[in-house]
Amino acid sequence: MLDKKQSEALLIMQEECAEVIQAVTKIYRFGISNLKPGKKKTNMMHRAKEIVAAPLVTNQVEFHPLLDQSRLLKAAEETGIPLSSYCSVARGEVFKYPLFAEIGQAYGKSAAQVVLRWILQKGVPINTMSTKAENIRANYEVMDFTLSSIDIARIDAMTSTGYRIVGKDLVPYAPDFD
Ligand SMILES: NC(=O)c1ccc[n+]([C@@H]2O[C@H](COP(=O)([O-])OP(=O)(O)OC[C@H]3O[C@@H](n4cnc5c(N)ncnc54)[C@H](OP(=O)(O)O)[C@@H]3O)[C@@H](O)[C@H]2O)c1
Repeated sequence: MLDKKQSEALLIMQEECAEVIQAVTKIYRFGISNLKPGKKKTNMMHRAKEIVAAPLVTNQVEFHPLLDQSRLLKAAEETGIPLSSYCSVARGEVFKYPLFAEIGQAYGKSAAQVVLRWILQKGVPINTMSTKAENIRANYEVMDFTLSSIDIARIDAMTSTGYRIVGKDLVPYAPDFD
């Protein structure tokens, strides 16, 4: 695990790398990942805006209904850096909660499709992974229905679960998200 000083040093190195890359190459679009929101000084999204000249087209972050990412959504709005999701079905953890399948029944959709649709209706493009053709196909079939505001609110309530996959336990150099 990195201590505070080491984390800060890593951040400075990353910023210097971004500056060098920009200086020696022509970058048209810049994609970033795991930048966290925060107060003025610690808001990595605002900092990225300051140091990156090219348009920042995405901040890929952990985003699923078992984690409250409302602060990140707010920072995305403030900075104009759109979010995109990873761990969209929380690596299968969402399937432990019957709510998603229950909501899906009314739409003729699976729990996974409900979860992915909820992410889309938050304005966040989805990135998910599957080894099975049927799941890959199902994960594309989320554009032909719309969750009602009541169902969205029921799913929103699940974000208080606070289930985070990518944190310092898994990735020692991850930012201190919470
Ligand atoms: N930028 C970052 O720091 C970061 C961090 C983590 C991940 N990622 C990227 O994000 C992508 C996805 O994340 P992830 O794989 O960690 O998490 P994920 O998409 O939440 O979970 C993938 C798991 O969910 C299952 N699954 C997917 N669709 C399903 C469906 N329709 N029904 C049932 N099960 C389904 C898959 O099992 P089956 O194979 O059995 O379908 C697989 O085990 C990956 O490309 C990964 O590289 C980026």
